[in-house]
Amino acid sequence: VSITNSVLLQGDCLETLRDIPNDSIDSLITDPPAGISFMGKSWDDDKGGRKQWVAWMTDVMTECLRVLKPGAHGLVWALPRTSHWTATALEDAGFEVRDVVTHLFGSGFPKSLNVSIAIDKAAGALKARGKAFVTAGAGDRSDIQGTSSADAFNQHAGITDAAKVWQGWGTALKPASEHWILVRKPLEHKHTVAANVLKHGTGGINIDASRVGESSAQGRFPANLVLTEGEATEMLDAQASQEVSRFFYCAKISRSERHAGLEKAVDAKRMSDARPNSPDMTGKFPDHDGREKTGNHHPTVKPKKLMSYLIRMITPPGGVVLDPFMGSGSTGLAAKEAGFSFLGVEKEPDYFKIAEQRLA
Ligand SMILES: C[S@@+](CC[C@H](N)C(=O)[O-])C[C@H]1O[C@@H](n2cnc3c(N)ncnc32)[C@H](O)[C@@H]1O
Repeated sequence: VSITNSVLLQGDCLETLRDIPNDSIDSLITDPPAGISFMGKSWDDDKGGRKQWVAWMTDVMTECLRVLKPGAHGLVWALPRTSHWTATALEDAGFEVRDVVTHLFGSGFPKSLNVSIAIDKAAGALKARGKAFVTAGAGDRSDIQGTSSADAFNQHAGITDAAKVWQGWGTALKPASEHWILVRKPLEHKHTVAANVLKHGTGGINIDASRVGESSAQGRFPANLVLTEGEATEMLDAQASQEVSRFFYCAKISRSERHAGLEKAVDAKRMSDARPNSPDMTGKFPDHDGREKTGNHHPTVKPKKLMSYLIRMITPPGGVVLDPFMGSGSTGLAAKEAGFSFLGVEKEPDYFKIAEQRLA
C-alpha cells in the first residue's frame, strides 16, 4: 500500500526485505522486539534462548545492512537487560556500533520479588494469595502481579525469623532508561567519509538538525542522552528551567497522539464504556472483545517527537527511512510529517491496520 511517500508492507520482515534492492535506503530507525515476552506477547519471545534470538536478529539485521546505502546510520532501540543481544546481532550482521543514545524517564515501575514475603510463603506462614511481587516508589501500581498493597514492599515486617532477616531485599530495580544503539553500515570500500557522503549522501550525522534549543546554529551540540519532560530527570539538567536545556526533551505519548487517525473507534469505545450493556446510538450492543481492542492498542507506542528527533539526526534530507518492526507506525508518522519517505514492515495484521490508518 502506498500512501504519499510511505510504503507499508505486511509480513515477516526477514522475507519482505528480500524484495528490496541493495544500497537503496538512507536510514534504519526501529524499535524491535527485546526477547522478554513483554506483556506475554508472542512477537517478543526469545525464540528458544539467547543463541536463537541473536541468530534471528542477526539475520534480520543482515538484510537491513544489505538494503542500506554504504555509510547509512541506524538507531535501534533496546532494553538495558537485553541490549547486549541486540548489539551483538548488529555487529554480527556487519554494522559498526558507534554510540548508544540513552533515554531516561521517571515513570517506570519495578517488578521486584519481595524476598521476605517469599520466605514467609515458602514456610507456610503467609497464605499464598497472589505472588510475592510488589512495586515501590514513584509510579506505584499495586495491581501489578497480584500484590495487595502498594507499600507492601516496605510494610511486610516478616513473620518467620528468616523473613525478618531478609526484610527489605528484592530482585529488581525500577526501570528508568532505554537504549537507542547508534550503528553505521561501513563506508564504501576505500572511501573516506567525505567521498562516501558526496557519492551516497550517507555517512554523516545531521548535527545542526539535532541541536537542542531555539536556533539551530546556536543550539547545544546534540548529546547521547534524551530526557522525558516533567520528570525527575530534569534535575540532571539544572539549566533546563533557566535558559536553554543541554538535552533533548520528549514528553510521554498523549492519549490524543496515540489514537490520532483512529478517533472513530475510540469514540465508539467511550460511548460503550459510559453505558455498559446498553445499546449505543447506532442501536447495536457493544461487542465486549471489540471494546478491548479499539483505537491504537499496540502496547509499545513511541512518541512522535522522539522518533522525529532520531530520524532527523541520521537521515539525509528527503531520504528514505526503514522500520522493519513498525508496530502501529510511529516511525512512519514522524517520518512523513518531517518530510521523509518511509518503508515500514509489520507482521501482525491488526497492528498493520492501525499503522495504515494512522498514516492515512
Ligand atoms: C516494539 S514493537 C514496535 C512498536 C512501534 N514502535 C510503535 O510505536 O507502534 C515491535 C513490533 O515488531 C513486530 N514484529 C515482531 N517480529 C516481526 C517480524 N519478524 N517481522 C515483522 N514484524 C515483526 C511486532 O508485531 C511488533 O508490533
